[in-house]
Amino acid sequence: MSNNPSIREFKVPRPFLKWAGGKRQLLLELEKRLPQSILESRVIERYVEPFVGGGAMFFFLKSNYQVKESILLDVNRELIMAYQVVKNDCTNLITLLKDMQYEHIQKSEEARKTNYYSIRDDYNQQITEIDYLNYSKEWIERVAYLIFLNKTCFNGLFRMNSKGEFNVPFGRYQNPTICDELNLQSVYNALKKTELLCTDFTQAHQFIEEGTLVYLDPPYRPLNSTSHFTGYSPEGFSDNDQIKLAEFYKKMDTRGAHLILSNSDPKNHDHYDNFFDELYQGYKIDRVPAKRSINSNTSLRGEIRELIIRNYPD
Ligand SMILES: C[S@@+](CC[C@H](N)C(=O)[O-])C[C@H]1O[C@@H](n2cnc3c(N)ncnc32)[C@H](O)[C@@H]1O
Repeated sequence: MSNNPSIREFKVPRPFLKWAGGKRQLLLELEKRLPQSILESRVIERYVEPFVGGGAMFFFLKSNYQVKESILLDVNRELIMAYQVVKNDCTNLITLLKDMQYEHIQKSEEARKTNYYSIRDDYNQQITEIDYLNYSKEWIERVAYLIFLNKTCFNGLFRMNSKGEFNVPFGRYQNPTICDELNLQSVYNALKKTELLCTDFTQAHQFIEEGTLVYLDPPYRPLNSTSHFTGYSPEGFSDNDQIKLAEFYKKMDTRGAHLILSNSDPKNHDHYDNFFDELYQGYKIDRVPAKRSINSNTSLRGEIRELIIRNYPD
């Protein structure tokens, strides 16, 4: 799809944050593999996404199918806070972002850089002060900061260090769109019948029943066993977590849910690595071409493959 971008890819709603591991390039491969009943009816009764990240698949489905009910989960509290604020306070968020954009764009390159680091410092300072458990008006400013940083940082992504601090350096952009009002409004609409939870993927089980469509896109398996840190959360996602996820997959399979999971293919780096083939033995495993641009080994760009694993037939 990346070689032949579909016009549908640019529709709104689309992800309002650039997120490492975003699945926009894989969307058409995933869509081809949706359950036949959904492809025919264009209706999804219930959608659950336990590792939502930037939500490329969710927004794609929302703009091309009738998704009646959705539940989005992620363990990253900053991310779920952002979804909550767009859902509950979109207009105030847009006003703040417009002001930030207006002020930022007027500045010289050097002053923009100073502004960026000052907002980044404030953002990191808030970590110890903000109440992550109870929704408050303070969340709006924090999410405006997050979107600002995401749109103006180097490479435009979210990454935190082991202390949970946002640590991406300043990026040079001519004219960054900090407030994409049309898309934010559209995301707001998409979130209306959507439940948002900041929790571990295992908690998703309470929403999954027969016929539920579940898309699982966990963090990539690290290339070597010592680099467990993925940048999404201080805890990372280890091989033991991948094993726990496979157990979860099998349990949800027995409930009759439709499960579609993507992951990097370890065979990109080691032809004999059968980790996922063994974990998901008995399920339908496809290997599809993918392009990875963030955190990738440049020598492999353009040649890597992604796994798509389903528990239902073509
Ligand atoms: C590969 S990303 C998902 C990307 C997403 N598909 C997109 O289009 O942007 C993986 C996500 O899993 C989240 N995550 C990591 N560990 C988790 C856990 N134990 N339970 C739930 N979410 C987790 C991360 O915060 C990250 O957002």
